[in-house]
Amino acid sequence: MSDIAPADSAGDHATSPAAGVEITGKAIRLDGVTKRYAGQETPAVDGITLEIPAGQVVMLVGPSGCGKTTTLKMINRLIEPTEGRIILGDEDVTAINGDDLRRRIGYVIQAGGLFPHMTVAQNIALVPKMLGWSKERVDKRIDELLDLVSLDPADYRDRYPRELSGGQQQRVGVARALAADPPVLLMDEPFGAVDPITRQRLQDELLRIQQEVRKTIVIVTHDFDEAVKLGDWIVVFREGAQIVQYDTPERILAEPADEFVENFIGSGAGLKQLSLRRVNEVELADAITVPAGGDAAEAKARAESEKHGHVVVTDQRGRPLAWPSLRALGRMTTLPTTLDPSLPVIGARATLNDALDTMLVSSAGAALVTGRGGAFVGVIDVETVMDAITAARTAMGERATDAPVGTNTGVIGTIPASPTERAVDG
Ligand SMILES: Nc1ncnc2c1ncn2[C@@H]1O[C@H](COP(=O)(O)OP(=O)(O)OP(=O)(O)O)[C@@H](O)[C@H]1O
Ligand SMILES: [Mg+2]
Repeated sequence: MSDIAPADSAGDHATSPAAGVEITGKAIRLDGVTKRYAGQETPAVDGITLEIPAGQVVMLVGPSGCGKTTTLKMINRLIEPTEGRIILGDEDVTAINGDDLRRRIGYVIQAGGLFPHMTVAQNIALVPKMLGWSKERVDKRIDELLDLVSLDPADYRDRYPRELSGGQQQRVGVARALAADPPVLLMDEPFGAVDPITRQRLQDELLRIQQEVRKTIVIVTHDFDEAVKLGDWIVVFREGAQIVQYDTPERILAEPADEFVENFIGSGAGLKQLSLRRVNEVELADAITVPAGGDAAEAKARAESEKHGHVVVTDQRGRPLAWPSLRALGRMTTLPTTLDPSLPVIGARATLNDALDTMLVSSAGAALVTGRGGAFVGVIDVETVMDAITAARTAMGERATDAPVGTNTGVIGTIPASPTERAVDG
């Protein structure tokens, strides 16, 4: 089987590869797959045919009990299908050894699912060791992966899971799943157990990692906003894993297939579209940066001469610490050297939705944007976000009319085979 959906038609917002980034993921196809649990009258998953394009992120959403987890776990056969076939790349893996299959598919659950009696390094090393990698190679891979998920290997290698925060455990879970460089990553509500701010960071990190690794990633979530943010494609399920709609986030927001999907999206579809745009896609405003501990009067004079109302105080590594106004500067002699805990900071990969949240909380009407290593890169303000919403709306309208037919691969139940048919129906 070749890659299903044309990569250039999908996911402009989320994980579109930089030109030349190699897709290491493989396509997955569920072919007429059914799961009947013993003692259950109706199947948990009923004849699903689902094509998951290589190197893309597909989100499975739907109400509790609709069969998301069952569908996901049948991909690596943690749950064996009652009927149907599972195809990975070109290979029918329905009947191969299940353990072998699972070593080729990374799996991440809530809170990372780490083994508590093993260190971070031992957790990550599990599959590579099973695959018989040399100690040297395993060690090198552990450091590489900890770097990838933004944990300093020197600091974290030998810790036990209980010595980590929820977000850190989740990062290690992702590192472990990627350890043997599998083409596919399955994630079941991976960010369900962490606080909203950590969740936002982990989501952004996952997108960054995906830009580097280009795996095929299937993620189950309850959270439609998360689906919009992370997905190249979203599958909306109802009971029995019936596909109600399978399409890009843009199109699902713009043209929900029916009332069920509409209800599922909930109110504020317009605002949700903000989750499709990222901070690094809009033009940021300049700011004056001054070093921590420097002379406040000097900083103030400079800001005045360059007609700025604020300065950004940064540490030695360029990370923002404070954002005093001219007035605040007038009351200081030296610039602060410690982090202002209420500083509105947002990562360059965050969505405009997240940026807006940060601004609203800070009441500054703007936020400081940070890039690699947390270094300050510019200022984003509410006007910029508003302009982006307008622009996105226009672009979405244009795209919706000429989007390619055939990206909606849901073939079950009452689902029209193409957006064109759907438009006629509705
Ligand atoms: N081991 C099992 N034995 C019998 N029935 C099961 C089993 N596991 C799941 N089910 C049933 O299958 C259906 C689908 O369950 P599944 O866990 O896939 O749902 P889900 O969409 O992941 O739900 P949630 O969002 O609550 O996690 C449910 O009705 C559930 O009760
Ligand atoms: Mg579940």
